[in-house]
Amino acid sequence: MKAVQYQKSGDPDVLTLVETERPDPAREEVLVEIRAASVNPVDAKIRQSGPGRLPKTTGSDLAGVVAAVGDGVSDYDVGDRVFATGLHTGRFSGGSFAEFATVPTDLLAPLPDDVSFKEGAAVALVGVTAWRALLHHAGLEPVETAFIHGGNGGVGHVAVGLADTLGSTPVTTARPSHHEMVSELGAETVLDYTRDDLTEAVREASTGADVILDHLPETYSELDVEVAAFNGDVVFIAGETTSLPNAAMARSKELDVHLMSMSNLATHAELPNIGPILDRLGRLLAADRLDVRIDRTHSLAEAAEAHRAVIEESIAGKIVVVP
Ligand SMILES: NC(=O)c1ccc[n+]([C@@H]2O[C@H](COP(=O)([O-])OP(=O)(O)OC[C@H]3O[C@@H](n4cnc5c(N)ncnc54)[C@H](OP(=O)(O)O)[C@@H]3O)[C@@H](O)[C@H]2O)c1
Repeated sequence: MKAVQYQKSGDPDVLTLVETERPDPAREEVLVEIRAASVNPVDAKIRQSGPGRLPKTTGSDLAGVVAAVGDGVSDYDVGDRVFATGLHTGRFSGGSFAEFATVPTDLLAPLPDDVSFKEGAAVALVGVTAWRALLHHAGLEPVETAFIHGGNGGVGHVAVGLADTLGSTPVTTARPSHHEMVSELGAETVLDYTRDDLTEAVREASTGADVILDHLPETYSELDVEVAAFNGDVVFIAGETTSLPNAAMARSKELDVHLMSMSNLATHAELPNIGPILDRLGRLLAADRLDVRIDRTHSLAEAAEAHRAVIEESIAGKIVVVP
């Protein structure tokens, strides 16, 4: 089968389309014939710096059709439409930029007929991230205000839609060229993140944000504390050296600060399974209660371009890769 692999970490050009052995599903795994995968910043970060066994097939999430089932699998049959994520991490690091992949059943859910393979692949990692951040960590509730940084990004655009469908009020940021799209997804207010008075504008729009989803805490942790409501929840999903310069204000507001990762799900059995979250995301998409946007589609041969774009370009939603 064809797969996009790298033999050493480095720039996107280390990605090579190779012919490799089709894997067999182990116990409680299925073999998926991949119809679509999507590209995430984490794929590019892992490629750039490691770690992981080499050669490595890139890619975290996929959608496709079950081609074979391993021993002990009772919930899936050959021919079922499925989608999955978490394939970049731990012992499940098989990757998804390929014609086939083996997937443990707890990283998988049925893909409803009304949801395309591209949509399934596009929503998987970012949708589970937004779900876990807003619902599991922050406990977002209807009528509360959620301030989400980067409402056009992979995580951001699904988070905006999820907050809206929950009956919460999403306030977000984006470049002006994305404002129309982000409003269509359900954002109550979209603010240009380059404006000088961003803190005041967010505070005015959110009247105290109950929940904040931040992937750039080095830049925004101070703003987050400023705009948070008393007892608010701030979830950081990225950042290497996050600090709170206004910790006294954070204490005074009695904020809850959460740190989360999607790169530890395979190694921490106590964390929630991906499958049940994917299942709910699939049902929301099928019911038109959530939307996932696909900026563009690349072939496997164009994987380096896709990896470069997800880091360097301003994307409207997700970039999808098809075998
Ligand atoms: N912890 C976890 O489990 C987890 C899971 C998923 C993702 N992540 C991480 O979260 C981050 C976002 O992931 P993603 O898939 O959403 O990436 P993405 O699709 O590239 O989205 C990034 C968003 O950030 C915006 N942005 C860039 N610079 C900004 C700035 N200075 N101020 C405000 N917004 C800015 C982008 O807007 P423009 O491009 O238009 O400027 C875009 O909306 C990545 O670092 C990723 O690795 C973590």
